[in-house]
Amino acid sequence: MSILVTGGAGYIGSHVVVELLNKGEKVVILDNFCNSERSTADRIRQITNKNVLDYLVDITDARAVDRIFALHGFECVIHFAALKAVGESVQNPFAYYHNNVAGMLVLLKAMQKYNVKQLVFSSSATVYGIQDSNPIYETADRSAISPYGQTKIMCENIISDLAKADPKFSAISLRYFNPVGAHSSYLIGENPKGAPNNLMPIIANVATKKTQKMSVYGNDYDTFDGTCIRDYIHVVDLAVGHIHALEYIRCHKGMTSVNLGTGSGVSVLQAIETFESVNDVRVPYDVIDRRKGDSAVLVANVDKAKHILNWQAKIDFNTMCRDQYGWATRCNKV
Ligand code: NAD
Ligand code: WQD
Repeated sequence: MSILVTGGAGYIGSHVVVELLNKGEKVVILDNFCNSERSTADRIRQITNKNVLDYLVDITDARAVDRIFALHGFECVIHFAALKAVGESVQNPFAYYHNNVAGMLVLLKAMQKYNVKQLVFSSSATVYGIQDSNPIYETADRSAISPYGQTKIMCENIISDLAKADPKFSAISLRYFNPVGAHSSYLIGENPKGAPNNLMPIIANVATKKTQKMSVYGNDYDTFDGTCIRDYIHVVDLAVGHIHALEYIRCHKGMTSVNLGTGSGVSVLQAIETFESVNDVRVPYDVIDRRKGDSAVLVANVDKAKHILNWQAKIDFNTMCRDQYGWATRCNKV
């Protein structure tokens, strides 16, 4: 039986597909390519030497999704397909609720109809909103402030209710902290349409001179150097975490949520300095005002992932910087 990966052409999804194929799993990708390239499946084939089917389908299109389920006997679904830009979700909340929540309902309906009982869901540290104490446990209040964050909380709630109602259902919500880096082949990586929103691709754009300078959002936080601290995790570590999550839901019913991070924090200035020294580049910046909605510190407690998934991140921050730059310098040439 095969695994359906929605959003499998995207940044995290493509890395997970590589790990799944390397494990000998059969994979079907469903993506509307609104934030990825159709050529991703070819790149995945190049990396793995394995075949993968990819369908151009929108997750909110119930008839098209039904057709894919009718064609394949899926054992499990890994659901990445979603819009993910926090600021954009504030400007256009409807698109976020429609794509992320209505899309999830379409998927769950097809899963029910075709008796597919296993789900890995891409959630986010954004569900924690602003937290006073770190590291953050999975039991912390979920208080997301953006519509994007709200869609992740809503999806988690829907999945949890379905799991309570159906004793055969097994699901895991993976709350990613800050995924960065790229596959060491530099054939896949983050390829957003439009300007990047996240720190590491922004640093890479300055380092490769796509933009001249970047802004550091505030240096008056209550942290050791005044800039915000985040838990950056290499996307390949994150992808391996999904393989462990899949093994877990194959033998545990019910629904649970697990943080995927490293458990260590890096400040914005540390990120810039490390990127410069690892890659021997310059990243000029100005310090400007704080960005609305930023927490000073967001670092995962990773005990649950170690304990129930038998997984922990291995790749260090230097390698994250090397691979982010490697991808940035090669992604338009392959
Ligand atoms: P991405 O945009 O690279 O990948 C998402 C993929 O889903 C893209 O290929 C896109 O084309 C596809 N997609 C979007 N809407 C779709 C729809 N309606 N129908 C079919 N396909 C659709 O993003 P990513 O960084 O790989 O994120 C994957 C998941 O992880 C998302 O659910 C995101 O919310 C979550 N997440 C991401 C981060 C991050 O920082 N990258 C952090 C936490 C959680
Ligand atoms: C990291 C740090 C900024 C850009 C976001 C989403 C979260 C999740 C991961 C999807 C912050 C600072 C940034 C810049 C800067 N995505 N920064 N200058 O905000 O921790 O999390 O991505 O689920 O939901 O909110 O990540 O990369 O935007 O910012 O100083 O130009 O870098 O203030 O402290 P964030 P980020």
